[in-house]
Amino acid sequence: MSIIESLQWRYATKKFDPKKILAQEKLDILKQAFNLTATSFGLQTISMLIIKNDTLRNELLGAAYNQSQIVDASHLLVLCVKNTIKEDDVDDLFDNVSHLRQTPETILEPFRNNLKSIMQNKSLEEQQEWSINQAYIALGNLMTVCAVERIDSCPMEGFDRAQFDAILKLNERHLKSILLLPVGYRAEDDMFSSFKKVRKELKHSIVEM
Ligand SMILES: Cc1cc2nc3c(=O)[nH]c(=O)nc-3n(C[C@H](O)[C@H](O)[C@H](O)COP(=O)(O)O)c2cc1C
Repeated sequence: MSIIESLQWRYATKKFDPKKILAQEKLDILKQAFNLTATSFGLQTISMLIIKNDTLRNELLGAAYNQSQIVDASHLLVLCVKNTIKEDDVDDLFDNVSHLRQTPETILEPFRNNLKSIMQNKSLEEQQEWSINQAYIALGNLMTVCAVERIDSCPMEGFDRAQFDAILKLNERHLKSILLLPVGYRAEDDMFSSFKKVRKELKHSIVEM
């Protein structure tokens, strides 16, 4: 199928078939796709939780306004951001560049220092907002990869982030939950799968100059 056919095939799945479980190789593709997502400066201040545990997902259900995808999907992906960006995060990036590309420190140092000062000049809220933007890029990337791989998914921001953070004890990992992406396979009777796509006509969303 062409990429456009894949994007037509995908839809925000409302009802998953709880009996259909993603193969490990599909999960591995989603892990790689998340990690290959482009981030600003390549800093990767985002993380992805992959939750299979049913007890845990049942605990999360109420905090996601009882949206059944949380428990019925094969796996629940939770996209998170680091709750703060530290000098160490910048050092980790540049140490990795140095290791993987053998770039001399004399070349890296000004970029390393510049990025540290950019991050230090942001308030905690600004740092988190900046990271949240990266999480949305990862969400889009994952949704497209899911479509190409014929994995059903449902992007979700309809949940209580603070309750998720508490249930998942994310503070201990210095993370905050931002977005959900239940993934798996659609139930045969999910009526939304047959609904026509509702989109503006291209002439109303594209401006050509
Ligand atoms: C950022 C974002 C958050 C969303 N949150 C929810 C949600 O909490 N629950 C839900 O059922 N759908 C949610 N959706 C799905 C949208 O309603 C859906 O993508 C949109 O209506 C277009 O339909 P389609 O994805 O089926 O083409 C969300 C979509 C996006 C992109």
